[in-house]
Amino acid sequence: MSTVVVLLGPPGSGKGTQAKRLVDVLGTPHVSSGDLFRHHLSRETELGLMAKSYMEQGGLVPDDVTVKMVIERISRPDCEEGVVLDGFPRTLTQAEALDGALEKRGQEVTVVPLIEVNDDEVLRRLTARRTCEDCGAVYNLLFSPPQEKGVCDVCGGSLYQREDDNPETVRHRLYTYYKETSPLIGYYFAKGVLVEVDGEQSVDEVHKELRETIKAAREQV
Ligand code: AP5
Ligand code: MG
Repeated sequence: MSTVVVLLGPPGSGKGTQAKRLVDVLGTPHVSSGDLFRHHLSRETELGLMAKSYMEQGGLVPDDVTVKMVIERISRPDCEEGVVLDGFPRTLTQAEALDGALEKRGQEVTVVPLIEVNDDEVLRRLTARRTCEDCGAVYNLLFSPPQEKGVCDVCGGSLYQREDDNPETVRHRLYTYYKETSPLIGYYFAKGVLVEVDGEQSVDEVHKELRETIKAAREQV
């Protein structure tokens, strides 16, 4: 039985942080559409350069290219046992495309934890986020700072601030979330797979709640 987890929630709700922890437990890959776009951008591929303007403004990259990129990734053999999806789907069109692609492989979405965090907390967290340019480890200057300023605890790499983590762009990303992505709450609720999780707890507490949520969902299948 495969386990497909779709982490839903506003920017800064902790999707990436929690996905990294969950894959250690579940043993499935972590697929983040944002990370895939940033990877393309760092290599200056055609796709990365096309996505750049949308990302910088806090809007969504068009559905057709996003769906193609993510479906190609999750169709690889390493996702046969499941996957933790982070930041995808983000529109109803993407959600339907995901369902279609999974169905072809005899899979389905197992559970959709909705990680809830209020807008002020999102702003606070994202303007304080720092990421390692080498290993991708994520820090927060307020909640989980590195031991040495600007240096990754894990690999010694330099920490950078994401270009879209300035207050103006974060506000626009929140607007995009409410407008384009929040309809997915109803979509997955209707399918009986949505579970609300309080994202304002500590990272450990959210992780614990997510593990319990996923365990319960797997037992129901
Ligand atoms: P993406 O990279 O997915 O950005 P996002 O959804 O805005 O989410 P974030 O990565 O900002 O937040 P997160 O929820 O992962 O939080 P994190 O764990 O880092 O997308 C970027 C862009 O790419 C989009 O704007 C769009 O343009 C494009 N894109 C991506 N996917 C797309 C799609 N499907 N369709 C179209 N376009 C797409 O945590 C945030 C901070 O908080 C960190 O510093 C962390 O340390 C801290 N933190 C986490 N949890 C806690 C906690 N419990 N308590 C305190 N601090 C915490
Ligand atoms: Mg993320």
